[in-house]
This record gives sequence, C-alpha cells and structure tokens, in this order.
Amino acid sequence: MHQNQNKNTNNHIPVLLEEVLTYLDPKQGEAYLDLTAGYGGHAEEVLRRTQATNTAVLVDRDEQAVAHLKKKFAKTPPEIRHMDFYGASKQLSQEERTFDCILADLGLSSPHLDKASRGFSIRTDAPLDMRMDQRQTLSAELVLNTYGEEELADILHQYGEEPKARAIARRIVAKRPLHTTKELADLASSVWPGRSKQHPAIRTFQAIRIAVNDEIEQLKAAMPEWISMLKPGGRIVVISFHSLEDRVVKQTFAEHSKHPYEADLQLLTKRPVTARHHEIVFNPRARSAKLRAAAKIKINKNRKHKKLPNTERG
Ligand SMILES: C[S@@+](CC[C@H](N)C(=O)[O-])C[C@H]1O[C@@H](n2cnc3c(N)ncnc32)[C@H](O)[C@@H]1O
Repeated sequence: MHQNQNKNTNNHIPVLLEEVLTYLDPKQGEAYLDLTAGYGGHAEEVLRRTQATNTAVLVDRDEQAVAHLKKKFAKTPPEIRHMDFYGASKQLSQEERTFDCILADLGLSSPHLDKASRGFSIRTDAPLDMRMDQRQTLSAELVLNTYGEEELADILHQYGEEPKARAIARRIVAKRPLHTTKELADLASSVWPGRSKQHPAIRTFQAIRIAVNDEIEQLKAAMPEWISMLKPGGRIVVISFHSLEDRVVKQTFAEHSKHPYEADLQLLTKRPVTARHHEIVFNPRARSAKLRAAAKIKINKNRKHKKLPNTERG
C-alpha cells in the first residue's frame, strides 16, 4: 500500500519510473495505454518519448485524478477515459484499438491517502468511504454495516490475509453500525493486544478497500484484454503493491508465456523488479512496489515465433 509522504494533496511521485521506461521502452510514434494514469507522472515521461498523444489513452476511475490529468495535459490532450480499467479495456477491445506500450500501476495514489475524507488512511479519522470511483454506491460503510459475518470474515481472510479474520468479523457485527475509520481501526486493533511493527488494522483496511473497489476481480478480468490489445513486439508493464495483486500478474503472464507453441508473451522479468534503496529513501511508498514486464511475441512466417531480446536488468 502506498504510504503518504506529501502534504500537497495533488502530489504523487511515480514509482520505479526509470525501470518503467526501460521495460516499456517507448519510441517515437508508438501508441500508449495507461490504465491507471493517476496524476500522470509515468504518462508524462512516456508521452515525452512517444510524442504521440493522438493515439494515447489514459484511464482512471478517480474523478480527482482525471481532473488533474485534463489540466496537466491541456496543451496536447491525449484521450482520457474516466472509468475502471476493466470497463475501459472492454470498450477499447471492441473498438479494435491496439497499443505498443501498456502500463498499469495498481492501487492507491498518494492523494487518496492524503485526503482524509476519502477514508483510505488508517491514520486519520474520516467517514468509511474507500471508493476510488465516488460515483459507485458501494462504500466501506455499506460493506461493514450490511454484509453477513461469514462474508466479512471471508473478505478479511482472502483480501487481507488476516489471521484473526473471524474474530474481527464477529466484533464488527456486534459493534455496528460503524461510521468512521477510527472506529474500524480501533476495533481491528482490539483483537491484537500488545505492540506490533505495523499497525494491527492494516490488513483489515486493505481487505475492505479491495472489496469496495473489486480490485482483484478487476485485475483478473482485465489482464487478458490488455495482452490481446498489445501489438506484436509491444511491451506491457504492471506494478503491484501487495502479494495478492502480484500473484494475479505473475500467473497471468505465466499462462500467456509458458506454452512453447501457443505463447503470445515473452517474459522480460523472471523475478519482480523492486525499488532500489535510494528510491525508497526518497519515496517510501516504493518499498512494496513489484514490477513485472512482458512483450508480445512477433509471429514470424518461417518460424512459429520470433523471440524478442531479453532486456532484464542483471
Ligand atoms: C498508483 S496510482 C497511479 C499513479 C500514476 N502512475 C502516476 O504516475 O501518477 C493508481 C491509480 O490507479 C487508479 N485505479 C486503481 N484501480 C483502478 C481501476 N480498476 N480502474 C481504473 N483506475 C484505477 C487509482 O484511482 C489511482 O489514481
């Protein structure tokens, strides 16, 4: 999860920027799809290299991010779609759009955590919201106050990998209605007496946030669309921030690259690329970032597949 270091609520430092540019390798005239464009940090650098805003598409489900992107790229605006990346990918596929460079930098932006009223932060008291797209009706408050005990326990176990999922679910049901993030943080912490390295409610917050935004199912459903929209030779980079997301990315890339004759991807990273020490010092939320990259295999008429050079950093 991203940890906020910025006082400015519109400030987001793009993670692993150098590595993104290495693996995405954007060249002049290439078409770029950014599925989580956020505050446009990665997009700005990619577009500086492609010089092709006319074929670029930037997607984000967050209204504040979209407003920021529109301002940031006002001079030569790329196409900006305010929707979730699964919906956007379906639309783009139906429109038969294809791209040379595809980026998904998953999860929350710093402004999500900075703006207390969004309800993502464990450190500030706020209404239980946690919606990335504030047009949707499902909020953390609705999940916590209406879902059954069993369903809540499953969410905490599955999306938070919380060992005390059942005990927390029981306490939520006994204490509800819950209205604020402090109530939730106190309640989740109460099952973990004593001191711990990380905040004891962190897994609960992650789980509820993932459920509210349907994050894992979105990723599972959207990734095959991203791969099918890649042009031959095109590159895809996905950055995840927790093990559940990384597992989906790893498995999807593996499924598309393992078969010797039917593979349509070549892995560019055998292991996930992580941030170097100096980046973590400068931007602590890069600590949990994991980058995986792959390239679409070029079909060669004489041989079945022509492999791309492996650009993995040694
Ligand atoms: C880590 S930030 C991206 C930051 C961006 N790369 C930059 O340089 O500014 C993640 C962004 O993805 C958006 N997001 C997360 N899940 C999404 C989804 N399923 N569909 C669309 N946008 C999503 C969030 O709203 C957030 O703005």
